[in-house]
Amino acid sequence: MSDLRAKYNALIDQITHYDHQYYVLNESSVPDAEYDRLMQELKGIEAEHPDWVTPQSPSQRVAGAPQAGFTTVEHRIPMLSLDNAFSAEDLAAFVKRLKDRLNSTADIEFACEPKLDGIAVSLLYENGALVRGATRGDGTTGEDITANVRTIKSIPLQLRGAGWPEELEVRGEIYMPKAGFEKMNAKAMAKGEKVFVNPRNAASGSLRQLDSRLTAQRPLEMCCYSVGHFSGGDLPSNQGELMAQFGEWGLKINAESQVVIGLQGVQQFYEQLEARRDNLPYEIDGIVYKVNDFALQNRLGFVSRAPRWAIARKFPAQEEITRLLDVEFQVGRTGALTPVARLEPVFVGGVTVSNATLHNMDEVERLDVHIGDKVIVRRAGDVIPQVVKALSDDRLPGAKKVTAPAECPECGSLVERVEGEAVTRCTGGIICSAQRREALKHFVSRKAMDIDGFGEKIVDALLETNKIHAASDIYELTADTVESLERMGKKSAENLINAIQKSKQTTLPRFLFALGIREVGETTARNLATHFGSIEKIIAATEAQLLEVEDVGPKVAAHVVNFFAEEQNVMEVQRIIALGVHWDDVVASTETALLSGQTWVVTGKISQMSRDEAKDYLLRLGAKVAGSVSAKTNQVVAGPGAGSKLKKAEELGIPVMDEADFIRWLTEQGLWVSGN
Ligand code: IVH
Repeated sequence: MSDLRAKYNALIDQITHYDHQYYVLNESSVPDAEYDRLMQELKGIEAEHPDWVTPQSPSQRVAGAPQAGFTTVEHRIPMLSLDNAFSAEDLAAFVKRLKDRLNSTADIEFACEPKLDGIAVSLLYENGALVRGATRGDGTTGEDITANVRTIKSIPLQLRGAGWPEELEVRGEIYMPKAGFEKMNAKAMAKGEKVFVNPRNAASGSLRQLDSRLTAQRPLEMCCYSVGHFSGGDLPSNQGELMAQFGEWGLKINAESQVVIGLQGVQQFYEQLEARRDNLPYEIDGIVYKVNDFALQNRLGFVSRAPRWAIARKFPAQEEITRLLDVEFQVGRTGALTPVARLEPVFVGGVTVSNATLHNMDEVERLDVHIGDKVIVRRAGDVIPQVVKALSDDRLPGAKKVTAPAECPECGSLVERVEGEAVTRCTGGIICSAQRREALKHFVSRKAMDIDGFGEKIVDALLETNKIHAASDIYELTADTVESLERMGKKSAENLINAIQKSKQTTLPRFLFALGIREVGETTARNLATHFGSIEKIIAATEAQLLEVEDVGPKVAAHVVNFFAEEQNVMEVQRIIALGVHWDDVVASTETALLSGQTWVVTGKISQMSRDEAKDYLLRLGAKVAGSVSAKTNQVVAGPGAGSKLKKAEELGIPVMDEADFIRWLTEQGLWVSGN
């Protein structure tokens, strides 16, 4: 073999190896630049020697031209569906049925797998080479999507290792991870393109593209979970070993899969995975339980379209259909009007939902919702419920289109919608009672002045009885005044006054954030505080000076200048300070601080302090505290329950300390005294 040919083969091996590491094993492999260089080199050789190129070359994932349509594929063995179990009782009944049928009292081994919410797909490998990909279709015939599946990097074009049957049909699920879905939708939204309702629809839509160059741009993955037809070789004798074998052949398998024993094992797996459902990087709609032993599977056989030896234990649905009764507009702290859907109550994502957000008028227009429409409501994880689709086919004749009001529903001031912005806003400012109320709720909230026990109800009650008008009034409240509110006991009144007193000792970032200046969130508040070091300097800052602050653009700078240009706002700040709100000096120059230039991430639960306190400590030492882990992260502090961020840190080899390490380290810095 010529040197060049050997070099070519080595390049293919190397790139395939890196793809496997990154896309199948989720391990970090080489820097992008190195990967790109290898790929360029490979393509260079292929340009000189086109006769060397095989379909298994990693350069051959994306086809050149779009297809005219999909041809159909007949499945040699039908792709079946699964029976469902909706409760612990259903699951117990399933296990009992199996035992009865097998005429045995012995505990059965089960393979437990997350039920990925995607599209079932069949891959055909001949002598280890991928030759065809097909959708499940109706179970008997599907569509040939070979060109599209080839673009998915977690699908090997050539199986690794050895010992695969000559013909091997691998089945599994193609899905879009949550992060990729969010990113893709955000991009589409910004460009005014089609937005997908959920990751499953996005995966399905991406796979049904006639132009595989489009599919290649979609963040799809495939996990494999069974074999259809095979010949010319043997396979393991149970599901657990089959999955291990898949792994050795370079096929992606789900990392959560586990073999357990008996009903107890099955139920335990359910509880553990259900608790982690929202933290998984992909959507699952339940768990698939399979009798592990293939010989037992054969004895059990099938009923109509589903195997007797498997069941899907479903999680609560995250999407349901209900009726839109009305749309009301809520006025936020900055005057933004948020359209809120009033719904016929519906059980979704584990709770009964009767309100859902419609975000803003752009979203209302995009969804084209009319009052009385049937709508799809989605509640995934702890995200607030959303209306994601209006079912316009069922629309009642004469149904009224949702439009923004011309006047603020709370104060009657005119409503404006700035050209190019999605948000509709009340122009009333502080004369708008809704804006005042929301501003006060924000001021006392946990991440702002953090006044313990000062909830929404108390804000409302104090405003309604005219006991307070502005934030500064909070610091003149007495226990007697508070006690005079309805349903307020002496003890609670005292507690509230104590909490107000305690909140006077704060930090400049918190105070700035509490003021509720538009687009000044926690991070911007911190950046402003560290840059200027004092509230006086921030009040006096010009737009040009503000633009020098990290992450501050013209918009934020203008909001800050406008805020302090209002004499009332400056007087309010001075009054709050005069009433005793104070903070320690901010480390103005981060260059001299211990952690200056470093980026830290705090994740999981910290039991001896709140996560915000932990962040405050780090900020005082000059660190930047980021919300996500990247190659730029210097250190991660991970308490119990840390999930994807910890995993990412481990993958990237970033140092991680647990809570005990962190407290020890703070103690060494003289920042923490035990018993704090
Ligand atoms: S096994 C005969 N395993 O669920 C066994 N299916 O309702 C059939 N699915 O069409 C499938 N994750 O799309 C199996 N780990 C898993 C699965 C899984 C998701 C889907 C698949 C199938 C549907 C059956």
